Amino acid sequence: MELREAQSRLKKAQRVAVLTGAGISKPSGIPTFRDAEGLWQEFNPLDYATPEAYARNPQKVWEWYAWRIAKVREARPNPAHLALVRLEEQVLSRGGDFLLVTQNVDGLHALAGSRNLVELHGNILRARCEACGHRFPLPDPFIPPPFCPLCSHRARPDVVWFGEFLPEGAWERAQGAFSQADVALVVGTSAEVEPAASLGRIAYAGGAYLIEVNPEPTPLTPLAHLSLRMGAVEGLGALLAQDSPDPSASG
Ligand code: APR
Repeated sequence: MELREAQSRLKKAQRVAVLTGAGISKPSGIPTFRDAEGLWQEFNPLDYATPEAYARNPQKVWEWYAWRIAKVREARPNPAHLALVRLEEQVLSRGGDFLLVTQNVDGLHALAGSRNLVELHGNILRARCEACGHRFPLPDPFIPPPFCPLCSHRARPDVVWFGEFLPEGAWERAQGAFSQADVALVVGTSAEVEPAASLGRIAYAGGAYLIEVNPEPTPLTPLAHLSLRMGAVEGLGALLAQDSPDPSASG
């Protein structure tokens, strides 16, 4: 049975790479983007999530982010976030390598306790000075737009907008982990936005056992050795069930 095989591989893997998307934070009350009730159904990304939109109307973009930030500040990590913290601890305790790469900007993985973490698209709770580039946490509450504590210039959300480069070194770290992985786990992403969407394919090409957790099929599904058609909480719960005896164990 494929689930048993996936459980066994996760129990033995020395190099585990995980990619998460908005779906893992949905149970925490944070909207996804492309679901039926996702943000892009209500808001045009070209009006809110591009450098051009910000240049056109920084106040409008900041007010939209302030609205999202308020939701994020009310959210707490859910059992799926915590399951990935447990998985990291298990892999590291047996001397393995673990990297969690998230597209999410909500900071919930860090809040849950994930350590080997790459926030590929930045973090919505931080701002970046438009003049000196200084990054700083946004006060709670804050009146948009925030101003740089170092040079007093206006600051922008410290997130990656469409058409922008990823944070320095983030892609190299993510690509390295997925290309070397024994097991790659892709949870809660529509796998439509590059370059993050390529990580599953990079892992597969490198010989990894590829597991997907998503209630819907995605472009990655045909490649996955196991695609669990379920939510992150249920899917990670099944994959990482504590009491699942290792089928490869003797006796
Ligand atoms: N558990 C797991 N997956 C879920 C759940 C759930 N409970 N609910 C929904 N999903 C899945 C949906 O089926 C969908 O495939 O989560 C995915 C969310 O897809 P998107 O909304 O496209 O989010 P994501 O893949 O993270 O988007 C990538 O696009 O807009 C940009 O920068 C933004 O980081 C974002 C990127």
